Amino acid sequence: MNTIEKITTQLSDNLVIGKNIFHCKEITSTNAIILDNADGLFSNGDILIADVQTSGIGRYDRKWNSEKGGLYFSILFQQIDDLQKFYKFIILIAFAIKEELEELTSDFNDFKIKWPNDIYYKDKKICGILTQTKIQGEKNKLVVGIGININNTFSKEDIFRNTPIALKEIIHKTNDLQNISQQLIIKINYYYDEYIKDNFNNYLIRLNQSIYKRNKKIKFTKDGKSILVRPLEFAYNGCLICEVNGKRKLFSVGEIE
Ligand code: BTN
Repeated sequence: MNTIEKITTQLSDNLVIGKNIFHCKEITSTNAIILDNADGLFSNGDILIADVQTSGIGRYDRKWNSEKGGLYFSILFQQIDDLQKFYKFIILIAFAIKEELEELTSDFNDFKIKWPNDIYYKDKKICGILTQTKIQGEKNKLVVGIGININNTFSKEDIFRNTPIALKEIIHKTNDLQNISQQLIIKINYYYDEYIKDNFNNYLIRLNQSIYKRNKKIKFTKDGKSILVRPLEFAYNGCLICEVNGKRKLFSVGEIE
């Protein structure tokens, strides 16, 4: 592993998320390292960014191939007392990333949130979010890891498994990773503020318009089993309302893999 260095940015000191930003050229996994050092090097709101991950983690314990050119970072949250409530913020993080991608491409129709963790451009995956928790006593430590395909290319295995796409393929140019990460951190802070002010409900209409395959059948994995659902809309508590076998059912972020 290369050295982890604290970097200075133009971002304001008042930010909660990204007050401290650390960078490493090559690391195993930003999620694993930030969670393992949650009581030492890193504190609440800290961000760890890597150029390359040698053992990037995806959902279902899959490998997340992390070649140079992608944006890979994790945010640490300490002392979360209500995990269910906090999931609303994780949905808003996905919304922030979607918004940033829309602005970068000037395409405001084709990015959707494949609830709860992925962002798709048309039918291809451009971003994956992995949330991992560590429970200590009453409080939870939580890491939100974000992988966005920006300038990177893909292995055959990736193409087979995820049908991925990178920003570079959409706008036909190589993008400035540092600029994108800073814009994203500003947006994520904006939505953190909205979450703290309990303004989640103000975004319901826009969140509903962002649902990938809304009103269409899609597979979810719950308790290791695959189920066919029709995503309909978000509920006030951040759950997703879906139609399953003709009935409306609520799914929470933690429930679906
Ligand atoms: C998925 O399977 O869709 C989630 C992928 C999450 C990848 C990111 S990259 C930064 C962070 N570090 C990791 O090891 N994984 C997450």
